[in-house]
Amino acid sequence: MSIDIAVVPVAGLGTRLLPATKSQPKEMLPVGRKPVAQHVVEELAHSGIRRLLFVTGKGKHSIENHFDTDGDLITYLRESGREQELGELAFERQDMEYFYTRQRRQLGLGHAVLCAAPLVGRQPFVVALGDSIIGLNAESDIVARMIEQFEATKADVVVAFEEVPRDEVFRYGIAEPRGPIGDVFELASLVEKPSVDEAPSNLAVAARYVFSPAIFDKLRETKPGKGGEIQLTDAIQLVLNSGGMGLGMRLRPDERRFDIGNFGSYFRAFVEFALSDPHYGDGLKEYVQALLDRP
Ligand code: G1P
Repeated sequence: MSIDIAVVPVAGLGTRLLPATKSQPKEMLPVGRKPVAQHVVEELAHSGIRRLLFVTGKGKHSIENHFDTDGDLITYLRESGREQELGELAFERQDMEYFYTRQRRQLGLGHAVLCAAPLVGRQPFVVALGDSIIGLNAESDIVARMIEQFEATKADVVVAFEEVPRDEVFRYGIAEPRGPIGDVFELASLVEKPSVDEAPSNLAVAARYVFSPAIFDKLRETKPGKGGEIQLTDAIQLVLNSGGMGLGMRLRPDERRFDIGNFGSYFRAFVEFALSDPHYGDGLKEYVQALLDRP
């Protein structure tokens, strides 16, 4: 059976989005009509994921509530004849099983992924960061393509990458590729949030990964790195150091990554999703255009 399980870390505090995230998770901020987490889940469903394990933390209950079936709300909408609104809840019935575990201490992204080990066991799995959406309206099948590469090449790790402007490399994990850089390339090494001078390329980790369970063994050996946190990037480097095969896969030009980790990229994501809204998009475009044309 092909990989159908994804770990979605959503335990981060979202401090770069204060005050919006003081009492609500950043993964529940709306982007267009839906919260970020729903966009992520729909994208993963489109790529064949059927079991989804959220690694949550303090203050993240609204994520669990969002994916529950709300019988009272359904009855209310049905009895009051609100068929269209009822349709907006179709995602509750999508073919997906949800699991939740908590990262009990904030020790970094690598540690959050390690919290999934007892539930994932010794099977390959996907990691999709819960604060990043790939492509508009869940149209991207990047995860399905990564799974295909992983299975065809027997790689230990496949990581999605996008090119970023050189002066933004300090925000991301950055690849040092080996050999030709096509849609798929070999990973020589990875460095977490390097300075512009240290960065081996401008290929940035784009929040989607496929792993063999060996990553859990390496995460257990990973010492705190950048920011004093246990970094997923460092554990991938340990896999590469021990002779494991790592591949990078580039996003297509139409598969931009929307990083809901800071206001600049959150605003861009919201505007782009709102402009693509089938009902409100055109009107919004005229409104924004008029604002921009104002003398
Ligand atoms: C994390 C990873 C980083 C990756 C980024 C993608 O950083 O550590 O390697 O490029 O996600 O969004 P964070 O954004 O959690 O600081």
